[in-house]
Amino acid sequence: MFNNLYPETRALSSYDIDFEGKYDLGYRGVIFDIDNTLVEHGADADERAIALMKRLKNCGFKICFLSNNKEPRVARFCEGLRRAGVDMYGVYHISKAGKPSTKNYEKAMEMMGTMQRTTLFVGDQLFTDVWGANRAGISSVLVNPIDKQEEIQIVLKRYLEKVVLKCYEKSRRKAIAGKAIVLIGFMGCGKSTIGKQLAEAFGYEFLDMDELIEKHEGTTISEIFATKGEAYFRNLETQAISGQLSDLRNKIISTGGGMPISPANHRPLKEGGKVVYLKVSPETVLERLKHDTTRPLLQREDKEEAVRSLMAEREPVYTRLADVTIVTDGKSVERIVEEILTAL
Ligand code: S3P
Repeated sequence: MFNNLYPETRALSSYDIDFEGKYDLGYRGVIFDIDNTLVEHGADADERAIALMKRLKNCGFKICFLSNNKEPRVARFCEGLRRAGVDMYGVYHISKAGKPSTKNYEKAMEMMGTMQRTTLFVGDQLFTDVWGANRAGISSVLVNPIDKQEEIQIVLKRYLEKVVLKCYEKSRRKAIAGKAIVLIGFMGCGKSTIGKQLAEAFGYEFLDMDELIEKHEGTTISEIFATKGEAYFRNLETQAISGQLSDLRNKIISTGGGMPISPANHRPLKEGGKVVYLKVSPETVLERLKHDTTRPLLQREDKEEAVRSLMAEREPVYTRLADVTIVTDGKSVERIVEEILTAL
């Protein structure tokens, strides 16, 4: 009913978005709302906003702040970034933007030299930010507002937003009703732990593909690798995922880290499941798995090199397959589950 007001996706905050993955997917410019999206209403750029802008610049993004607020406020925010050492080349701002009018979304793309399909919008309000982005044909991420205490005119708008968001949530739930939720990601990213919690939150059955394979073969994965080889194991994975995804409903499926790599598995995965990628850094994996003896691919002297090269090879595949990517480093299980529930 309110399709024009629905964001492409939701995130708990601007600081939880996987911008590196977005860059890999072809995005080159990010348009940000400022107030309540990056900092509290009227506040200067703080440490995490500064760190995020440095990170985005490092990735190669162009940035444009698109605010309905006045010039002095927006200029002060940018000045704070500049003084903190953010390279402001390719960083633009537009004040009194008149969102949801599309005019300044278009101007922002012109400034950044991006197109609709290479531009991402991040904002906290439906009736200005998201509606404008949709009308301008740009993908949008709706984030939760930073400040809970808001001006009275915004409080009223938030009430109406709640109604729209309820409908949005219903349509999202409908879209996943006939599908399994499939967790993918590198060894040690937390697929099983998060999967069990998610299953509880949804009231779904939890299935661990590695456990299914071990049960089927009557032995451990290490034994399968040692006696029959990796190719044999990969075959079992393909059979298992195709089998499981033929009856999808009400399942949370945790996959082995190498399962999404085989192209034969892509179709069953995408057709049968909503794919959630749990992204993790090599450092976290190495720390978590330093005493692990159950992953045959990591039983090597040069474990660090194995993790880094395997991850570099696999990450683009995970990113392309994912419907939702959650960056997990340094976050609690509860926080990760909350992020998944928000994004799905
Ligand atoms: C593998 C990951 C493992 C297991 C096997 C191979 C991989 O699962 O399937 O050791 O190739 O990444 P986890 O991701 O659950 O550790």
